[in-house]
Amino acid sequence: MIPAIDFAAPSRLAPLPPPSRERFARPHVLLTASGEHVHTRDGRQLRLRAIEPGDVAAMQRCFTRLSPEDIRRRFLHAMSELPTPMAQRLCRIDPAVETAFVLMDESVHPAEMRGVGRIYVDDTTRSAEFSVLVEQAWSRRGLGALLMKRLVDDCRRRGLAELWGYVLMENRPMLELCRELGFRTAMLPDEPGIAQITLAL
Ligand SMILES: CC(C)(COP(=O)(O)OP(=O)(O)OC[C@H]1O[C@@H](n2cnc3c(N)ncnc32)[C@H](O)[C@@H]1OP(=O)(O)O)[C@@H](O)C(=O)NCCC(=O)NCCS
Repeated sequence: MIPAIDFAAPSRLAPLPPPSRERFARPHVLLTASGEHVHTRDGRQLRLRAIEPGDVAAMQRCFTRLSPEDIRRRFLHAMSELPTPMAQRLCRIDPAVETAFVLMDESVHPAEMRGVGRIYVDDTTRSAEFSVLVEQAWSRRGLGALLMKRLVDDCRRRGLAELWGYVLMENRPMLELCRELGFRTAMLPDEPGIAQITLAL
């Protein structure tokens, strides 16, 4: 049973700044009761839905397909495996303070996780920290941007003031994506090589 997500909830604040090259028009997205059906321009199909506790095995398989570079860019340090307790924790979210969307490839059996985007909310600062990941074989199809847009929508639905994340300065794809979405970038004085990117909502 897939939890209902109010994808259609209107944004309470101003829309995102207009993206260059009409990024969000690229994957075709169709809203259904079971999530969103996403069609990439090159004919691939995915389902975007809320993460579920039963996604642990798919998440661990996804981890094995990541390059060491992708892992470092996502977790900001090297990891050789995704331990089951950590995967369980990542899949069993507390909806009061977390949102996580997955992009599931149901053209294969078992279904494979091709992307994940999540936020952790800090109520005291009315902000949320995000992370996002798209498997390399599925990158450059607008899926990272789609996940980020859903996270921004969710932050606005929650009435938050700011969405932020840490990004390695070498991570040009993510910095470029965030620049196009209107995030501002600041260096961290105590963490050379890491930028904090922030979007005022
Ligand atoms: C960063 C990441 C999420 C981008 O996902 P994606 O699905 O490829 O992103 P999109 O297809 O939506 O691309 C959006 C834009 O980002 C930029 N971008 C993406 N990949 C790029 C690359 N390899 N080189 C340069 N720019 C790139 C481009 O501006 C791109 O737009 P374009 O394709 O129209 O040129 C993905 O590469 C990833 O998961 N990386 C590893 C984990 C990570 O770095 N997470 C971020 C820190 S939490």
